[in-house]
Amino acid sequence: MIQEELVLPNGVRLKNRLIKAATSELLATSAGAPADELIRLYRTWAAGTPGLMISGNAIVDDRYPEGARNVILREENAPELTRWAEAAQATGVPLLIQISHAGRQTPRIIAPTPVAPSAVNAVKVLYSFGKPRALEATEIDQVERQFIDAALLVERSGFAGIQIHAAHGYLLSQFLSPETNLRTDAWGGDISGRARLLLNIVSGIRKATSSKFIISVKVSSTDFAGSADDGSYVMRELAKRGADLIEVSGGTYEKPLLFDRATTKKREGFFRDFAGLAKRASSAPIMLTGGMRTPSGMSAAIREGVTDAIGLGRPIIVDPGLPARLLRGESPPPDRSFEHLPHTFRTFAVNAWHAAQLHRIGRGQQTDPKMGILIPMLRHLGAFHWNALTRTKPRPVLAEAAASRG
Ligand SMILES: Cc1cc2nc3c(=O)[nH]c(=O)nc-3n(C[C@H](O)[C@H](O)[C@H](O)COP(=O)(O)O)c2cc1C
Repeated sequence: MIQEELVLPNGVRLKNRLIKAATSELLATSAGAPADELIRLYRTWAAGTPGLMISGNAIVDDRYPEGARNVILREENAPELTRWAEAAQATGVPLLIQISHAGRQTPRIIAPTPVAPSAVNAVKVLYSFGKPRALEATEIDQVERQFIDAALLVERSGFAGIQIHAAHGYLLSQFLSPETNLRTDAWGGDISGRARLLLNIVSGIRKATSSKFIISVKVSSTDFAGSADDGSYVMRELAKRGADLIEVSGGTYEKPLLFDRATTKKREGFFRDFAGLAKRASSAPIMLTGGMRTPSGMSAAIREGVTDAIGLGRPIIVDPGLPARLLRGESPPPDRSFEHLPHTFRTFAVNAWHAAQLHRIGRGQQTDPKMGILIPMLRHLGAFHWNALTRTKPRPVLAEAAASRG
């Protein structure tokens, strides 16, 4: 099953069902242009023959990244974006750019007062985040425009498409979740209000781009507060408005389920119940990410109607050649999950350790599955602060820029 082709609603054909999931690489220049290491990394992943690749967070508003070396989707970076698209897709594996706005998950060192649908509490993880203020209605319109403009830049640069990041507690996920969206206007209240911004962005991008441009959306099963009706509504509407692929994940920085081994029960896939619901509600293909590890478990999930495609995160970082091996019937070794560490540190450790592996590939080295955890954590922390201090100052956007020009 995983060997089978997948035809997306817009007619684009993926050669197999294995998809490299988004992995924040933090390999851009201080101005947010893709660096050579990032380009080498994606060439290496393409050689592993997945059916599709999805990049890590690329930011639509440079004031609100999730990390200081995220790619920033601004016009000035178009030449490097084009070089990335050409190199990564040279062998025919399409690459989607994950377009994202971190909202209240923007680190405090970059935005002391980040933005969110509502002025809820700060994200309580390692004292790294400030208390957000609520976005004004005009700013929400601006966010919608920024996502559409980002998608247009991605299309002009030659990428196969985008993935809208509406999962893991970033801005669009904050709008979907009743825990972080307490608005009483058109963008809050019931699910049709909370999903309005995301759905408008999907419709706007579908209208603005060509029919062959792939539109994917990543959602967290945990943002629907257990309501199957709300989840089904969003899945149905995403497909209606032209989404070609819906990825199902879960969790946030505060509730980091996405790396939780404890949630893997008898069968593979942390979020398979929600994936099944999504598949029943939506006419768009579903991609299930999180804890999928064996070729037989993956094929079974497809055969049982839980999902159409399989997302690979940690294992494809440790072994960029993994898709080819899975297609031959081999399984990866177990994850390094650092279960001896306390919960909050564990998520940080998993990120730091995997980032160190990504960076090795970017430099043209082999990964080091036996690497310890202390040095990657210290390096990650040091780089995080250094990169934040040395990043190019954000540029005013749209209305603010117009106002300052008078
Ligand atoms: C180092 C690292 C960076 C990640 N960055 C992103 C990201 O930028 N965007 C995203 O949607 N998910 C991101 N993820 C989550 C993965 O896409 C995936 O959902 C998660 O790793 C679970 O899948 P797995 O069990 O196959 O690893 C990241 C995961 C890791 C390990």
